Amino acid sequence: MEMEMTIRPRRLRSSDSMRRLVRETRMDKSSLIYPLFVEEGKNIIEEIPSMDGQFRYSVDKLPYAIEPLLESGVDKIILFGIPKEKDEVGSQAYAENGIVQQALREIKQRYPEMMLITDVCMCEYTSHGHCGVLCGHDVENDKTLDLLAKTALSHVQAGADMVAPSDMMDGRVAAIRSMLDENGYKNTPIMSYAVKYASSFYGPFREAAGSAPSFGDRKSYQMDFHNRREALKEAALDIGEGADIIMVKPAMSFLDIVREVRDMTDLPLAAYSVSGEYAMVKAAAKMGYIDEDKIMCEMAVSAYRAGVDIYITYFAKELAKAMTEGRIG
Ligand code: PBG
Repeated sequence: MEMEMTIRPRRLRSSDSMRRLVRETRMDKSSLIYPLFVEEGKNIIEEIPSMDGQFRYSVDKLPYAIEPLLESGVDKIILFGIPKEKDEVGSQAYAENGIVQQALREIKQRYPEMMLITDVCMCEYTSHGHCGVLCGHDVENDKTLDLLAKTALSHVQAGADMVAPSDMMDGRVAAIRSMLDENGYKNTPIMSYAVKYASSFYGPFREAAGSAPSFGDRKSYQMDFHNRREALKEAALDIGEGADIIMVKPAMSFLDIVREVRDMTDLPLAAYSVSGEYAMVKAAAKMGYIDEDKIMCEMAVSAYRAGVDIYITYFAKELAKAMTEGRIG
């Protein structure tokens, strides 16, 4: 049958090169950030049980993580520290010779081409596993701000190119900004975990970093995942306090939020595809239920399509490879 049809969407899907021509979402390796766990000690390359293919490294073994990343074209990392000692006030978070500070100095010196970002938070360093200092069972907001600002400053002094507060205290961006400015670091940007939900998708990370709270949960500081308007409020606050880049976290179940935040600000926008997203893909692939590589690509593209400029992912290396081979991007 001959149909009279002037508009035929299939014309633009007729070949691979035609599909590439009209592709709406384009990505680049330069937008990928890889999360890296550094642990105090020596000679450690320890696989994280809940995150197949992800490891904790001692400083002396960091080249095993960094060289393959650079080879794949990923030149940005966000560092997480696992200290030997924890205490009530998370002293190792802002210790001059803390684990992240040591790693920063070492990597900066050996691999100056690597952009170093640090996660600024207390939960890996406090004995109770909360993201700030306690008053009774409550996380004390304003006292925590001083410690977060100290932590950020010590990271920058040790070589961090950018700091990323993930604690969700009120006012932390302003506190960090003024601490950095007062100490001569006016040009160091802040990438704020502005919209961070209290999410069970962080489960495997907490195992990796040994940072699960010893009592209660994080719902008095991280956001309720039923909320959308609150995301815009959090983003607006951090923008007002001087955040340079805004993040939404987790990614996959929160792409509606990514789009909302994209539409309300012109700042660069990041999404963090968190440990639980990674672990689910790995586990399902191991069972033979899904194609790991294709699912990874589809997840990443969906974040960029929703509006992110920057994607933080444990699959950074594999995605870079997929981009090099032209499977996505
Ligand atoms: C620290 C922090 C967490 C993550 C990033 N920074 C854990 C948490 O908030 O409990 C989660 C990252 C991931 O799950 O991959 N507060």
